[in-house]
Amino acid sequence: MLLLLGATGYIGQAFQTELTRRGERFVALSRSQVDYTRFQPLYEYLKANRPSFVVNAAGYTGKPNVDACESAKADTLQGNTLFPQALAHACAALDIPFGHVSSGCIFAGAWVDYGNGWVVEKDMTKPEFKAIAANSPEKIRGFDECMIPNFSFRDQPCSFYSGTKALGEEAIEGVGQNYIWRLRIPFDEFDNHRNYLSKIQRYAKVYNNFNSLSHRSDYVKACLDCWFQKVPFGIYNVTNPGYVSTAEVLEMIKDILKPAREFEFWENDDEFYTTGAVAARSNCIMDSGKLIEAGVEMRPVIEALKTTLNEWKPE
Ligand SMILES: NC(=O)c1ccc[n+]([C@@H]2O[C@H](COP(=O)([O-])OP(=O)(O)OC[C@H]3O[C@@H](n4cnc5c(N)ncnc54)[C@H](OP(=O)(O)O)[C@@H]3O)[C@@H](O)[C@H]2O)c1
Repeated sequence: MLLLLGATGYIGQAFQTELTRRGERFVALSRSQVDYTRFQPLYEYLKANRPSFVVNAAGYTGKPNVDACESAKADTLQGNTLFPQALAHACAALDIPFGHVSSGCIFAGAWVDYGNGWVVEKDMTKPEFKAIAANSPEKIRGFDECMIPNFSFRDQPCSFYSGTKALGEEAIEGVGQNYIWRLRIPFDEFDNHRNYLSKIQRYAKVYNNFNSLSHRSDYVKACLDCWFQKVPFGIYNVTNPGYVSTAEVLEMIKDILKPAREFEFWENDDEFYTTGAVAARSNCIMDSGKLIEAGVEMRPVIEALKTTLNEWKPE
């Protein structure tokens, strides 16, 4: 029996759907039944029920967005750092392997070769970065799992949310047997206020930057494949290979969905951060090569976006 934590959430629901589709036996546990975020009740539950594997899709995200975490720091720290740490130690004590939903938002920027070797560029809005993306995309690389998070409490600035996610990884890495599955900007064909493609269509103004993305159902399938295919434990960037700019995504939306409205971009970071956002936002390119080399399939991001938009289901 598998145990799924956070099953009522946006990502947890996708795990439920996929586990049901696969005919896997699982229990979806909510805090309303057992407060699994505290060590003692969690340990007792695990000891009594002995799941073969635990999927942790629970965490504190901030609603409607990460800005809310700046004013709920204790809840954010508890949900994203202290709770995963408790889970890791309870699982390790009982020899139960688990997978933890982490985030790519602990990184900023990408590796780029401007002509003098590879360097990390945190600001992908620079004209010289955009020129390389347009003309020599082979000179841009994503962050792999060996890279230390550079949008974290240890490498500031960062949002409080990102800081707690990075510290969460640090607290559980190598404790017992676990997967750390990094999710990045989920999207799929179901119109929903949590879906990146819905958000873009509803924003008053769109923020343009480069990012790697994760198709929600591709993501949960890949995570479960890690466990069922016995992929070695460790950290995995679970993103659809490649990256896109928000402007490119918007062009695909215009082309395929033909929305009635016009779209406007924030002029620059100054305008975005003085008017549209409180916390610093992570924009980053991830390298999902480790996952693919381990034999887990993910569609390239452009293909996933086009197929998704062609299958779009308005709310
Ligand atoms: N959505 C994204 O854009 C995104 C991107 C990257 C990473 N992630 C990560 O994915 C995980 C799930 O995110 P989500 O978007 O599915 O979040 P969500 O919709 O808010 O759901 C999270 C679930 O976690 C449980 N939970 C446990 N402790 C909580 C707490 N202190 N506050 C709120 N909920 C708590 C709740 O389930 P019960 O109360 O029923 O147990 C809740 O339904 C998180 O770790 C998040 O950091 C999300």
